[in-house]
Amino acid sequence: MRTQTVPAIRASKVRGGSDPLVMVTAYDAPGARQAHAAGVDLILVGDTLAMVVLGYDDTLQVSVDDIAHHTGAVARGLASSPSENPRPLVVGDLPWLSYHTTVDDAVRNAATLIRAGAQTVKLEGGRKRLSMIEAIVDAEIPVMGHLGLTPQSVHAVGGFKVQARQHDAALELVRDAKALAAAGCFAIVLEAIPDEVARMVTDSVDVPTIGIGAGGDCDGQVLVYHDLLGIEERMRPRFVRRYAELGSASVAALTAFAADVRAGRFPADDETYHLSAEVAETLNLYGAKADTAE
Ligand code: KIV
Repeated sequence: MRTQTVPAIRASKVRGGSDPLVMVTAYDAPGARQAHAAGVDLILVGDTLAMVVLGYDDTLQVSVDDIAHHTGAVARGLASSPSENPRPLVVGDLPWLSYHTTVDDAVRNAATLIRAGAQTVKLEGGRKRLSMIEAIVDAEIPVMGHLGLTPQSVHAVGGFKVQARQHDAALELVRDAKALAAAGCFAIVLEAIPDEVARMVTDSVDVPTIGIGAGGDCDGQVLVYHDLLGIEERMRPRFVRRYAELGSASVAALTAFAADVRAGRFPADDETYHLSAEVAETLNLYGAKADTAE
């Protein structure tokens, strides 16, 4: 099967003539197969797992083992996917505290996600994370950066807020992006920043920028699976476009199931296994419906 590669992604600059990159999050095998069938370029097993799957209020609650567990499910989903599309690159998100203590820890935790089935890892932060990024890249693990709103800093920055709105903060962000690219990041996520700043960053670096709430001039876009499919109800940032309403569709389906069970409409005869006529006869079930179980 053809597969997306890090060098191909790294070379995907819109100003160089490439199509914008498409990344979505996925956390399990069905989600991964759907993303593959849809032809996305990258799947991020994001630490948003904590919020959209596990029910926490922020992303700080998941561990490396949690991300590895879900990365394995995504990798198995892709391995059994029938789609002819190129296999998306799997990015395992390094969770909070998995790369904040020592460089050794950072490399080992990145390796755990690779062994679980990711081809690359993502981590949040700018120049203060350079030593970790360099060590992980040095261990032959491709790293995606993440600047702007970095949800693992939610308490430090006082909430999920748009970043780099002021002159100095915008210039700092451009400096961070250049430093990440120089340290070897193959792509950089830009989250919740003004589009003018995202454009400055995108123009300043030779690696692709992938925006989420960063306007239309990035080299790609990412959305969270549960947001774009209308499954996540609690938060709805302005940058989310819902392409479906699967949350309400699921409730409607479950309500119909409950009503059918209570009214005796489920299961129907063709949803039911039956004995063959001979066996029904031997059991003295004269008149029982005879069929062969499949
Ligand atoms: O964890 C995640 O889903 C992310 C995206 C929001 C980029 O980091």
